[in-house]
Amino acid sequence: MAPTTLTSLAGEKTLQSEFVRDEDERPKLAYNQFSNEIPVISLAGIDDAGAKRSEICKRIVEACEDWGIFQVVEHGVDTNLISDMTRLAREFFDLPAEEKLRFDMSGGKKGGFIVSSHLQGESVQDWREIVTYFSYPIRARDYSRWPDKPDNWRAVTEEYSEKLMSLACKLLDVLSEAMGLEKDALTKACVDMDQKVVVNFYPKCPQPDMTLGLKRHTDPGTITLLLQDQVGGLQATKDGGKTWITVRPVDGAFVVNLGDHGHYLSNGRFKNADHQAVVNSNYSRLSIATFQNPAPQAIVYPLKIREGEKPVLEEPITFVEMYKRKMSKDLELARLKKLAK
Ligand code: SIN
Ligand code: FE2
Repeated sequence: MAPTTLTSLAGEKTLQSEFVRDEDERPKLAYNQFSNEIPVISLAGIDDAGAKRSEICKRIVEACEDWGIFQVVEHGVDTNLISDMTRLAREFFDLPAEEKLRFDMSGGKKGGFIVSSHLQGESVQDWREIVTYFSYPIRARDYSRWPDKPDNWRAVTEEYSEKLMSLACKLLDVLSEAMGLEKDALTKACVDMDQKVVVNFYPKCPQPDMTLGLKRHTDPGTITLLLQDQVGGLQATKDGGKTWITVRPVDGAFVVNLGDHGHYLSNGRFKNADHQAVVNSNYSRLSIATFQNPAPQAIVYPLKIREGEKPVLEEPITFVEMYKRKMSKDLELARLKKLAK
C-alpha cells in the first residue's frame, strides 16, 4: 500500500520497496549534473512584426524539430505572479497531512491531492506528491477540488492559468505558421482547449539512485509549460532516447515540452519530448506543470503531411481514444516486463 503522504518517509534511511525501480529504469545521471544543450529562447519581441519575430520563431521551430523541449525567458508572465505561485504551492505541501488529505483524490476524484500518481496496475510508485486541478475550459473548474489553503491560492492560480493559456497559444501560433497553416490552426484543432495544472512536490529522498520522482514518459497533450525551482531534476533524452541530460534550471524560465498531440498534428515533424524527473537526498523540489490538451473529442490526425511523407497515424482518432491506447500500451509493456523477470 502506498503511504498517504511522503513527508513521513523523507527522513527514513532506506527507501520503501514500492518506490524501488528496476535497474534499467533508475537514473543514469544525477539531479545536478546540468547540461546547457536545451535551447533557452528569449521571447522579447515576439509580438512585433519583422525580423526579430522571425528570428525567435525560427529558434522555436528548430528547438521543436531537434528536441521537443526548450526553455523560454522574457516570456511576459509577471515575475511576481511566478513567485507568488511558487510560494503558495510550497506552502500547500508544507501543510499538515490531514489538511492536504482533505483534498485526497484517491478513489477516482477529479482533482486534488495524492501521493504519487501511477498507472493503474503499476507496482512501482513515483517519489512525489501532487496537487492538481482542471482550469480550462472554465466550466470544468470544480472549486470543491481546488485547495482553499493557503489564503489567496485560488486567486493566484486563476491568474496564473490565464497567463499560461495565452503563452501556450502564442507558441502554438508560431508552430502553426511554421507548418504553413493559419496562425490559429493548432489551437483550433484542440477545439475547446483544456488546461490542467499539476503541482509536483518531490521530498528529499533517502536513496535517490534507486527511484524516480516521475517515471519516463512523453506528455499526451499538445504543449506543456513547466515551471521548476532551482534544485534541478528534470531530465530529457537525446540521440533517439539513448542519452540522458539534466535540464539546467533557469530562474523565471518556463520549460516548454511538446506532447504527443502536438507531435501527431505536425506529422512527427515536432518531437514529443521524452523526459523524467529524478530526486535527491539534499533538497526537496517543486515543479508546476501546465498541460494544454485538446478537448476529449478533438480529432487527432496530422494537419499537414509534407510531400513524400506518410501519415504517422493510420486513421483519425479522438484524443480520448489516443490517450486510452497510450495507457494500454504502457500497461502492456509493464506486464511483459514483469513476465520477463
Ligand atoms: C512533468 O513531466 O510533468 C514534470 C517534470 C518535472 O517535475 O521536472
Ligand atoms: Fe511530463
